[in-house]
Amino acid sequence: MNFQGKSFLKLLDFTSQEVAYLVDFAIHLKALKKNHIPHEYLKGQNIALLFEKSSTRTRAAFTVAVSDLGGHPEYLGANDIQLGKKESVVDTAKVLGSMFDGIEYRGFSQEAVEALAANSGVPVWNGLTDDWHPTQMIADFMTIKEIFGQLKGLTLVYLGDGRNNMANSLMVAGAKLGVNITIASTPSLQPDPKIVAAAQVVAEDTGAVITITDDPIAAVKPADIIYTDVWVSMGEEDKFEERINLLMSYQVNADLLAHVENPDFIFLHCLPAFHDTETQYGQKVAAQYGYTEMEVTDEVFQAPYAKQFQQAENRLHSIKAIMAATNGNLFCPEV
Ligand code: CP
Ligand code: NVA
Repeated sequence: MNFQGKSFLKLLDFTSQEVAYLVDFAIHLKALKKNHIPHEYLKGQNIALLFEKSSTRTRAAFTVAVSDLGGHPEYLGANDIQLGKKESVVDTAKVLGSMFDGIEYRGFSQEAVEALAANSGVPVWNGLTDDWHPTQMIADFMTIKEIFGQLKGLTLVYLGDGRNNMANSLMVAGAKLGVNITIASTPSLQPDPKIVAAAQVVAEDTGAVITITDDPIAAVKPADIIYTDVWVSMGEEDKFEERINLLMSYQVNADLLAHVENPDFIFLHCLPAFHDTETQYGQKVAAQYGYTEMEVTDEVFQAPYAKQFQQAENRLHSIKAIMAATNGNLFCPEV
C-alpha cells in the first residue's frame, strides 16, 4: 500500500506492516537528525496545526518536525480561528485544505477529525481526540523497540483510566504489533467492549493477547512495560474526586512494581503526569483530598527504569515519520 496522500486518524486504518514501518522509519529519522543529515521531505509545504485542546509535546513536535522537514508550520489555536464558534468543521476543512498542504488537528471529537479529512482534500493527522491518540503510539512503540530491540511477544500493562484515548490506542497498537496489552482498571472504567473486540480481531493475526482485568497485582507480574496516564483527561476536569476514589489502587508505586517479575522492565507515561505538587491541579488535589501524587509516585517517575522523557523526545521523530510517509516527497517501499 502507498502511504501517499493518506490521513492518519486512527491505527485501525493501517495494516500491521504499515504501523511497524512507521516505527522503523521514525528510528531512521531520529538517526538522521542526530547526525545532522538533512531530511527535507516536506520542502515548500505549509502545514496547519489546529489545537482545540492544550498541548506541549504534540504542538512542539509537530512544529519542529515541520521545520526539520523543510516546511512551514502555522499554529491555529482554539481562540484564533472561527472553527466551532462561527464556522463548521466542513467549511473550515474546505478553506484550510485550499491553502495548506496538510492539517494536524487536536480536539474533542473523532468525528471532527474524520470530517476534516473527508472535506479538506489534504492529509489530516490526528493529534489526539477523546477516542484516539495515534501519533503517540508510534513514539511509544518506537521507544519500546529502542530499549528492547524488538516488539513481538513483549507485554505492556496499562493501569488507570481504561476507557480513555490512551487505553484505546494502546490496545489497537499492541494488537497490530504483536505486543500483549493488559488494561487494569476498576470495572466502571474498563474499555468499551467494542474497542476490545476490534483490537482482538487484529490480535488474532499477530498473536498478541489483550487482557482486561481489575486486579493490579496479577496484571503487573508478567509486564515488560508498565504504562499509565492521567486519571482525568482534558475536558473532564470536574472528575478528580471521583477518579481518585476509583483509581487509587491502580496507582503505579514501588509496592505495586515489586510484583513485576522482569528485572529489566520499563515505565512509560505519555505525559503530562501528576507525580508531585508542582502543578496547579496537583496543589488543588493535595489541598482538597490530601494526595500529593496521583497515577504515578514521584519515586517511580524519577527511577532509572522510567523512560518517559526518551518517549517524549520520540514524539518529534515519530510525527516526522507520519507526515513524511503520508505527504512527503520520498519513496516508501511496499510494506
Ligand atoms: N503526550 C501528549 O500528547 O502531550 P501533550 O498533551 O503535551 O501534547
Ligand atoms: N488521556 C490524556 C492524554 C494526554 C496526552 C488526555 O486526553 O488528556
